[in-house]
Amino acid sequence: MKAVLASNNAHKLQEIRAILGDCFEHIYSLKELGVDVEVEENGKTFVQNAIIKADTICRLTGLVAIADDSGLEVEALDGQPGVYSARFAGEPCNDDANNALLLDKLHSLEKNQPINRKARFVSVVAICYPDGSGKYAEGFVEGTILDEYRGDKGFGYDPLFYCNQLSKTFAEASMEEKNTVSHRAMALQRLREML
Ligand code: IMP
Repeated sequence: MKAVLASNNAHKLQEIRAILGDCFEHIYSLKELGVDVEVEENGKTFVQNAIIKADTICRLTGLVAIADDSGLEVEALDGQPGVYSARFAGEPCNDDANNALLLDKLHSLEKNQPINRKARFVSVVAICYPDGSGKYAEGFVEGTILDEYRGDKGFGYDPLFYCNQLSKTFAEASMEEKNTVSHRAMALQRLREML
């Protein structure tokens, strides 16, 4: 069976191929299929957004479609940026601006009292089949938001996210290390068990 990843993110394609690659004949990127669409992520939850993306691309291509929706939830910010993680500081999406806004928000809160810096990354991976059926799985990884940037690997909020299990930030971890504990790897492993 051939599948397509409903994303153009090279990081995600690499991770998804590493974990689910042997479940399919081939996992195409959208680019490989010549599909150039930006699916509107207008769901209120990670689950809704992952299903919207997988379902849209499945209908468009007629192939089994896999989609991930992920983000960061910070306890002191009542779960923000959550589903708005990619466009926290507005559009177009910019990792540096998102990280700066996150630090600003925490600094403002910290002026009045010590704050809780606990956070988690969430990932939902959904799969949709051309017959209309589908499944999804969730993954989480716990950490702490630092007050300074550490490391230059990865993407997004990685330099501020100190991973409790690795005892370093995600931006200080190699991709192999990150993949042993990451939210996306956990969701993909769970989905793999369901396939
Ligand atoms: P998505 O592509 O709509 O799932 O957006 C995910 C957003 O959440 C990214 O743009 C990042 O800001 C953030 N994010 C998700 N996973 C990670 C990660 O592993 N490291 C750093 N940031 C992440």
